Amino acid sequence: MTETAMELIDVKKTIGSKEIIKGLSFEIHKGEVFGFIGPNGAGKTTTIRMMVGLMGLSDGDVRILGNSIKSEYKDAIREVGAIVENPEMYPFMTGRQNLRHYARMMPGVTQERIEEVIKIVGLEKPINEKAGKYSLGMRQRLGIAQALLHKPSVLILDEPTNGLDPAGIREIRQYIRQLAEEENVAVIISSHLLSEIEQMCDRIGLIKNGEIIATQDVNAATEQTTAVEIQMDVTPTQQAIEVLKEDFDLNATTAKEMVTIRAERDMIPNIIQSFVSHDIKVYQVTMSKSSLEDKFFDLIGENTIE
Ligand SMILES: Nc1ncnc2c1ncn2[C@@H]1O[C@H](COP(=O)(O)OP(=O)(O)O)[C@@H](O)[C@H]1O
Ligand SMILES: [Mg+2]
Repeated sequence: MTETAMELIDVKKTIGSKEIIKGLSFEIHKGEVFGFIGPNGAGKTTTIRMMVGLMGLSDGDVRILGNSIKSEYKDAIREVGAIVENPEMYPFMTGRQNLRHYARMMPGVTQERIEEVIKIVGLEKPINEKAGKYSLGMRQRLGIAQALLHKPSVLILDEPTNGLDPAGIREIRQYIRQLAEEENVAVIISSHLLSEIEQMCDRIGLIKNGEIIATQDVNAATEQTTAVEIQMDVTPTQQAIEVLKEDFDLNATTAKEMVTIRAERDMIPNIIQSFVSHDIKVYQVTMSKSSLEDKFFDLIGENTIE
């Protein structure tokens, strides 16, 4: 279960006279989703470029399944799949044609594997349509499918939720978790927004100014992190409380005319729908930050993690 897939050992990067990455050390296990979180400019992309062999290290080492990216480059990089910038694809080819095209450039990728990765990312329906017609979310999926073709042990995604709407983020969350669990892949996913990826991660590493300033096990605090406090300005209040109890088994409290519950963020649309169908008027719904966000807020000492 806790087999190490990738290890960073005191990784440093200096460009010109500027030390951009100041000695990062952490490891990622197979089957684990690791969130690499930090504000813009923290050094996420630079670190990832070194992890995937697109940029040399100034010092330290990256080991993938024990192989050094410096001295055993080929063995190390064979186990990595990644999307660093936008996924590259040919808009005039279908999704499947794109995958076949990339498969031809990699040794040992079978037709079965192509079909397998299509299923993993849930692209069965649009796979015969031209990639140029894909939404951003679908393009991300195709990019991930492409990165998975050669069965890497580590999948690295740099800000995959950028530009996606909440539905797109929810979809990514589902298949990333499935991927880690069923294919036993170690997934490293970066973001400047904790809230967008917190729910798909087992562990989070917080990077600021080229240094890891905290790591946090998300599993250990799952209940506190996925359930958030939600305040609702609704009327009639009493009826809303009854609906919450009957339809969702939630015990609500009231304060200052607001109905307050603790629930998962994903339940909000269902709750609103249910209120509407009971003719309850919804004026406002607000959500407090998760406890993990509060903690990181304190560590970063800025207004937001952005
Ligand atoms: N090629 C480069 N030359 C000089 N500075 C760079 C280069 N690439 C990145 N940087 C600097 O390194 C820091 C980290 O950048 P980056 O890794 O892109 O951060 P992130 O992905 O977390 O937003 C930033 O201050 C950025 O300006
Ligand atoms: Mg970046």
